[in-house]
Amino acid sequence: MKNVVLIGFMGTGKTSTGRLLASRMGYSFVDTDRKIEKECHLTIKQLFAEHGETYFREQEAAVVRKVARQHHLVISTGGGTILNPDNMKALRKKGVIVSLTASVEVILERTSRKNTRPLLENQTMEERRAAITKLRAQREDLYKQADLIIDTSELSPLQVVEQIMSFVRKEVKQRA
Ligand code: S3P
Repeated sequence: MKNVVLIGFMGTGKTSTGRLLASRMGYSFVDTDRKIEKECHLTIKQLFAEHGETYFREQEAAVVRKVARQHHLVISTGGGTILNPDNMKALRKKGVIVSLTASVEVILERTSRKNTRPLLENQTMEERRAAITKLRAQREDLYKQADLIIDTSELSPLQVVEQIMSFVRKEVKQRA
C-alpha cells in the first residue's frame, strides 16, 4: 500500500489527523517537522531564528527525500513543504496526497494555542489574521494539487480520518 501524505496550511489538523489515521491503518506515523527537530537537535523556532528559513527549507527537503522512499507511512508535512516541487514529486511517487484545509478563523484559533510557528509569532491577532490570509492565498493552488481535499473546519480528527480511509479503500478496490 502507498503512503498517505497530509499536506495543508498550519492549523488544518495534519498532525492530529495523521497520528490517528496511522493508528487506525496500522501504519507508522512520521511528522516531518518533528523529524527535522530530532535530526538537527533544534526546535523549528530555533532553526528559523539561528539559521533562517532557507536553511530550514533545506533540512525539510532532506527529510522529505528520506521519508518519501519508505512504505506504509502516514506522513504529516509542514505547511510549507508544498513550496518545493521536488518535495511533492518525491512524496507523490509512493504516496496518496491528501490536502487538509480550514477557514482563516479556524486556522487563527488553532494556531493561537501554541507559540511554535515562526511565521506567525510576535504578531497581534489582527496581524496574524492578515498574515494567514495572505500566505494561504499565495499557496492556495499548491495545496489543491492533491488526490483528495478535505475542509476540516467543522470536522473532528476522527471524522477526517474516516473520510480519508474510505477514499483510500476505494482507491485500493479500483486498482484490484
Ligand atoms: C510552516 C509550517 C510549520 C513548520 C514551519 C513552517 C509553513 O508546520 O513547518 O513553521 O511554512 O507553513 P505546520 O504546518 O505543521 O505548523
